Amino acid sequence: METRAVYPGSFDPVTNGHIDLIQRSAALFDQVIVAILRNTEKTPLFTVEERTEMLEEAVRDLKNVSVTSFAGLLVDFALQNQASVIVRGIRAISDYEYELQMALMNRRLSNKVETVFMLPAESYSFLSSKLVKEIAQLGGSIRGFVPADVEKRLRDKFRIE
Ligand code: PNS
Repeated sequence: METRAVYPGSFDPVTNGHIDLIQRSAALFDQVIVAILRNTEKTPLFTVEERTEMLEEAVRDLKNVSVTSFAGLLVDFALQNQASVIVRGIRAISDYEYELQMALMNRRLSNKVETVFMLPAESYSFLSSKLVKEIAQLGGSIRGFVPADVEKRLRDKFRIE
């Protein structure tokens, strides 16, 4: 039977660390659905449409990866899409506590969906969308942290020449 995985997140914006994880997931599972959370309480820098465009561009060559958005409970989205796996990336121990809490809560909500933790390449272990946004806003170089088109969009958002 085919195994379908969901890789959920805010992706505001997608980083090379996310892409690394998507590639690893695509090699492991038959289908990977990258799912952007909508209706978050956080105020995002990029709209869901912009984030979708950036992700679609990033996964263009991965034939078993699709990009969509979701609202509501993640386990409900997974079940509705016949996905039995939730993929989450763990960079450092500091990520673990929050991820453990979410994974166990999701397991309580549905025992039909299993969370799988994956490690990005260690060169991305310090990378986060939050830091990338902060560096871009303050005029620092974000080359190598995000795809070229995302770098351009960040520069445009913060009007950096
Ligand atoms: O990249 P992020 O922002 O850390 O992703 C968090 C995400 C989207 C995985 C999490 O906020 C989520 O699953 N939200 C959907 C609502 C939900 O299911 N909440 C209960 C989680 S136990």
